[in-house]
Amino acid sequence: MDLSMNQQEQRIRELREILNKQNYNYYVLNNPSISDYEFDQLLNELKELEARYPEYYDENSPTARVGSDIQQEFEQVEHTYPMLSLGNTYSQEELREFDSRLQKELAGESIQYDCELKFDGTAISLVYRDGRLIQAVTRGDGTRGDDVTMNVRTVKSVPLVLQGNDYPPFFEMRGEIYMPHVSFKRLNAEREEIGESPFANPRNAAAGTLKQQNPQIVAHRGLECFVYGLYCDDFPFDSHYEALQKAKEWGFRVSDAMKRVSSLNEVFEYIAYWNTHRATLPYDTDGVVIKLDNYRQQEQIGFTAKAPRWAVAYKFKAERAVTRLKSVDFQVGRTGAITPVANLEPVRLAGTIVKRASLHNAEQIALLDIRIGDMVYVEKGGEIIPKITGVDYNQRDLFVQPLEYITHCPACGTLLVKEEGEAKHYCPNATHCPPQILGRIIHFISRKAMNIDGLGEETVELLYNNGIIKDIADLYTLKKEDLIPLERLGDRSAQRILDSVSESLKVPFSRVLFAIGIRYVGETTAKKIAHAVQSIDSLRQATKEELLEIDEVGEKIANSILSFFHDEINLQIIERLRKAGVSLEAKKAIVKSEKLFGKTIVISGVFTQHSREEYKTIVEENGGRIATSISSKTTFVLAGENMGPSKKEKAIKLGVPLIDELQFLSMLS
Ligand code: IVH
Repeated sequence: MDLSMNQQEQRIRELREILNKQNYNYYVLNNPSISDYEFDQLLNELKELEARYPEYYDENSPTARVGSDIQQEFEQVEHTYPMLSLGNTYSQEELREFDSRLQKELAGESIQYDCELKFDGTAISLVYRDGRLIQAVTRGDGTRGDDVTMNVRTVKSVPLVLQGNDYPPFFEMRGEIYMPHVSFKRLNAEREEIGESPFANPRNAAAGTLKQQNPQIVAHRGLECFVYGLYCDDFPFDSHYEALQKAKEWGFRVSDAMKRVSSLNEVFEYIAYWNTHRATLPYDTDGVVIKLDNYRQQEQIGFTAKAPRWAVAYKFKAERAVTRLKSVDFQVGRTGAITPVANLEPVRLAGTIVKRASLHNAEQIALLDIRIGDMVYVEKGGEIIPKITGVDYNQRDLFVQPLEYITHCPACGTLLVKEEGEAKHYCPNATHCPPQILGRIIHFISRKAMNIDGLGEETVELLYNNGIIKDIADLYTLKKEDLIPLERLGDRSAQRILDSVSESLKVPFSRVLFAIGIRYVGETTAKKIAHAVQSIDSLRQATKEELLEIDEVGEKIANSILSFFHDEINLQIIERLRKAGVSLEAKKAIVKSEKLFGKTIVISGVFTQHSREEYKTIVEENGGRIATSISSKTTFVLAGENMGPSKKEKAIKLGVPLIDELQFLSMLS
């Protein structure tokens, strides 16, 4: 569709408006009015228009939600209003004292309280000017925090552009960024898959994610945000409750659990209700926050150095059950990591029956001095996965022996190792330990890897247990005769498996690199590596120094890559994959000119005319080579806005010229 200049701009604006509204319906109101498919169609139309007409660039466009691949270092920003904490209470008694103090200081004025859930995530300050998000800052030390705007822009329940027109011209919204249970589960499963240690709870996961250097990763992690406080110089409202109701109209996500009450008894009722019902929420709360509603009264009551005196938190007691530890199993993961799992006498906890609990690692077991037969305390860690938090030593039998941690792999008998800085023991027998091999095959066929969807986990297990496949390369020599005798597999299913195996030959190199399962090489890292090295052979030949030059590759990943290629069995598997036709090198860009032949170019910063990805392609199409870090071999840096200060410094030090995008484009025209 060719549109005139005005029409393009109008359509871009219109699409942004529709998509912002739909994001709000979906992520804030939980009430989408168009299908996901329709949404994606509109988003794609907008992406295309924005790529074609970069003059209409807007940092708050809904397309910013997917995250750009710009690497960032956080800048420290001073808070306009300090970010304080809250006093904690644990009993009705303490709340009565809080209420009496306020009653006394307000000399009999009538009081209303706002009861809110205390969301268990990480605090965020969102700064808006003229209805547009301009900055998002973490709490930091309360006075200064990290500027994480790029990351927060990807959180879909944070409005980038506000609705209506009655918001203050400049104000701050405070809230909590948290990770819902589903996202937390998915993230930890992914981390365990690549041999990274899982996050202990959704709070740590949310905080860790906000400090990610790559907003694309943040965009995929499913963070959400509730807001709970408005800060500005001239308050247009009399009360906190009104302010938050208004904030809802502007597009902020305010929890429906918020309630304004007129007595301490109602506060108690609220606490009692949520103490049980919080188990049904899809995210963690660790208490209730009680706030004096009226702003004038808040001002009168004032602050201590650390916290407002007009608000207080009531912390829930963690739900805990007591049960007997029957036995401990040791599971071996795909990467060889050993996880001890407790088998418990079934017990009811926060609405579910718990039979098993994770014991994490040897240290945890030693710390608890846990023994078979002990009565143990079970809590829901991060309110999802039950964990053992203690032992009732009084109930222990006199003669039970301490639990000895295993020294050898329960699956293959190999002596376990524990690397420095790692909490877990590992079975080093990566190439012969059955659960590790099976785990790797299952990883290889998974959707994000080779996507061999004709095969499921169970069939792989069946094939492996029957000795039909012994490694990932065997998948490519499977024949129908191998498959049909297997239980429940008819001719059609067998054909489907073979078709999806041959379909996987089209999977690009970057995903193959992820699929072959080098420890610590996750999806994003694999993409970066594939882009930097272009083929499995150059990766194999890369020295440690060269590996460390690649974005996102540190000591741990570099060592893991080196040891992977050091193993003769891995090399043989790669040769067999090559013979089968699996893509072991990146598709070459079609070279249209040689204007950049022999030039090594580093791209850094934000651009307006084309995206970074487009610039990479332009460089390659003109015969140039992209490098990810600046060295004396760099011909020039294609430098956009907000180029990282350390990169800039390095370029200047090495005398590498910085060229802006207009200079660059005129070089090619
Ligand atoms: S109000 C002046 N309301 O709890 C302090 N805080 O322990 C204003 N939090 O740093 C905080 N839910 O990150 C407030 N509904 C809520 C909250 C909440 C979670 C967090 C917040 C704060 C911490 C204080």
